[in-house]
Amino acid sequence: MTAVHQRLEAEGLYRRFAGRAVVNDVSLSIDAGEILCLLGPSGCGKSTTLRMLAGVETPERGVIRVDGVEVEGPLVSVPPEGRSVGLMFQDFALFPHLSVADNVAFGLRGGKAGKRARVRELLDRVHLAQHIDSYPHELSGGEQQRVALARALAPRPLVMLMDEPFSGLDNRLRDGIRDETLALLKEEGTAVVMVTHEPEEAMRMADRIALMRDGRIVQQGAPYNLYNAPVDKAAAAFFSDVNVIRGTVTGGLTRTAFGEFLAPGHADGSKVEIIIRPQHLKLDFDRNGQGPAPTPVNGVPARGSVVRARYLGRESLVEFEMEFDGTHLSAVVPGVFLPNAGTPLWLMMRRDRCHVFPAQVVT
Ligand SMILES: Nc1ncnc2c1ncn2[C@@H]1O[C@H](COP(=O)(O)OP(=O)(O)OP(=O)(O)O)[C@@H](O)[C@H]1O
Ligand SMILES: [Mg+2]
Repeated sequence: MTAVHQRLEAEGLYRRFAGRAVVNDVSLSIDAGEILCLLGPSGCGKSTTLRMLAGVETPERGVIRVDGVEVEGPLVSVPPEGRSVGLMFQDFALFPHLSVADNVAFGLRGGKAGKRARVRELLDRVHLAQHIDSYPHELSGGEQQRVALARALAPRPLVMLMDEPFSGLDNRLRDGIRDETLALLKEEGTAVVMVTHEPEEAMRMADRIALMRDGRIVQQGAPYNLYNAPVDKAAAAFFSDVNVIRGTVTGGLTRTAFGEFLAPGHADGSKVEIIIRPQHLKLDFDRNGQGPAPTPVNGVPARGSVVRARYLGRESLVEFEMEFDGTHLSAVVPGVFLPNAGTPLWLMMRRDRCHVFPAQVVT
């Protein structure tokens, strides 16, 4: 054991509701200045995990430490106000009868001048200094959100816990406020756990993502790793649509219309699913029935005919029916690419973008 502690550590958090484990052996650790996003589908236990970290929900088992000091464990349960955590929830309700300044100053101790200086500093930082004497009902949703952020950060919490803090904002406001929030949290050096069910938000905000499913963390790592090295099909599919090619393993290989795929560790005769994201399929033109030559990187090309193509702004989505078995595959192409229905094209699967998983047994 080293003496250096992470800012926030949780080990083996466990909580049941109505006999069902809603948070099942969750462990996390976050350093100062780091942002961890708890990502997962609705009901997977994200908020319950966050509430236990905050101290407003009690785990049945598990330990929580802040800077190495146990705040939750078999013999201790420090209340929320003793944990040096800032909280920001979806319904972040400001105090309606208090001015912006008094809202931000709410959790501050000490002299009037010192408080006022901190309030000013934070309101400047969130570009709301001109609203210091306004009341919440005089502010827009986005402005209220920024006041709530300033209020949560005012007492310089060691840890900031945020539960879908941007979900009440419309899309255009959201991007700006997210980036501003991120910058401020980084500046303050707070350790952050942010809950979201949107993969794009997690990828935009997080240094690390913890992907949750059914009360467990199924994968944890940098956004790049979760996107490019998913642990299973569901983890892959959480971040984008995926194409699935099915095959059977013989001698460590799976033969498909796209050539052979290595399937190490999969038993002979077992069924596998090869997963590739639509943006990782490569397209090439059909030249009198001929496609491009096979390569080790791209494998064997397979021909499909366009079912439909749609323009999505930055990119185009083209859906194919494959000649080899009539299955449908989707490809995303940057820019405008709108071939007519029926156009034959060749598809290639970049080997380094494919993931081979055991086929899911349908029950
Ligand atoms: N106080 C409670 N009493 C009973 N069941 C609860 C309680 N709180 C949460 N649950 C249940 O625990 C499960 C996990 O809830 P939780 O709020 O942690 O999910 P979540 O991942 O935050 O979902 P969402 O994305 O919808 O907010 C849900 O099935 C929920 O119904
Ligand atoms: Mg929730």
